[in-house]
Amino acid sequence: MLDLLVKNATLPDGRTNMSIAVLDGKIVEVSPGLDVPAAEVLEAQGLLVSPPFVDAHFHMDATLSYGLPRVNASGTLLEGIALWGELKPLLTQEALIARALAYCDWAVAKGLLAIRTHVDVCDPRLLAVEALLEVKRQVAPYLDLQLVAFPQDGVLRGPLGPDQHLNNLKRALDLGVDVVGGIPHFERSMADGALSVRLLCELAAERGLRVDMHCDESDDPLSRHVETLAFETQRLGLQGRVTGSHLTSMHSMDNYYVSKLLPLMAEAQLQVVANPLINITLQGRHDTYPKRRGMTRVPELLAAGINVAFGHDCVMDPWYSLGSGDMLEVAHMGLHVAQMTSQAAMRQCFDAVTVNPAQLMGLAGYGLEVGCFADFCWLQARDPVEALRLRATRLKVFRRGKLLAQSPAATSQLHLPGRPTQTSWMT
Ligand code: FE2
Repeated sequence: MLDLLVKNATLPDGRTNMSIAVLDGKIVEVSPGLDVPAAEVLEAQGLLVSPPFVDAHFHMDATLSYGLPRVNASGTLLEGIALWGELKPLLTQEALIARALAYCDWAVAKGLLAIRTHVDVCDPRLLAVEALLEVKRQVAPYLDLQLVAFPQDGVLRGPLGPDQHLNNLKRALDLGVDVVGGIPHFERSMADGALSVRLLCELAAERGLRVDMHCDESDDPLSRHVETLAFETQRLGLQGRVTGSHLTSMHSMDNYYVSKLLPLMAEAQLQVVANPLINITLQGRHDTYPKRRGMTRVPELLAAGINVAFGHDCVMDPWYSLGSGDMLEVAHMGLHVAQMTSQAAMRQCFDAVTVNPAQLMGLAGYGLEVGCFADFCWLQARDPVEALRLRATRLKVFRRGKLLAQSPAATSQLHLPGRPTQTSWMT
């Protein structure tokens, strides 16, 4: 007998009246109208059943620290980095772990079951690294956490000098951090930025690791480290294993240059993370009017065959005061900022918080096909576009066929003459 049978589900690809059969934590059949005995049956009522949400770009060492030790008055990236520098000496492992675990609770309740988080490796104590490795162990039964060794102060520019910062980064990898990070646009010069990309890509190639760099998070159209990232990816045979995060300078670049850049990125199979909530907030701060949006060129990247994910980046930290782990809110903002309003483009925005980041992170067993892990969300929406419109309630969240979280349907009781007694905002 099956462990779980989901009946009458709509899938993100539009198939309706679908059944999903689960045995031993895996999907063993997906077919229309299947009705066989199971220990547990979920009648999905024609609503959307989606693979879980995935966030390919987050900072879990900083999350839920908003206001510590003060708030970001200017709202800029640079004040955020300075503020994080003030907070770092005050951090304790206990507080880091408690805040990260609390965020993972929020994430699971929103159906977000895989997160790639950058972790600052500039503190020689590697306090945050040890804390997040502990969190990774603790949440492993219910959430996949992937860690990126992130030299926030610049691997060459940082106050301890290049040798110490490179050494800290290598020690973090030795402890079990999964991915090599970087921040070339924050190094002292364009030349140092390019050198940092080369050194860090070589380190990843030596160790057989993936790369995910904060790259060109700037409004400066001449911040072109993505070009070096694509070049080093090609040179070192890292195709498909390297991600450029943010890439906001692409928003401001000359169109002719971008027409050369996009094919180079595609050739290197570079992957991209845009962070719409954060980029629309932090970028363009030096502009008067018109004010640039500052998000990278998502529709053009997708059209060039490049895998693009939307990341949350920050929740209640030195850079961003809002957020709740809701990847539908992230995609909703991405859709608006990139003006991805056609039906097909809105579905691409849904993919950018589900299948695209799963591919980027190399998640095994992700999806709603036979043989995949039985991880999915039952949403209070009939299709991905409605899910985006409503930032739909996650009615039930499953992992390996086991229920992790559930929420009551969103509905409002109405007391209006001659009108229905309730609404759920669905036509
Ligand atoms: Fe980031």
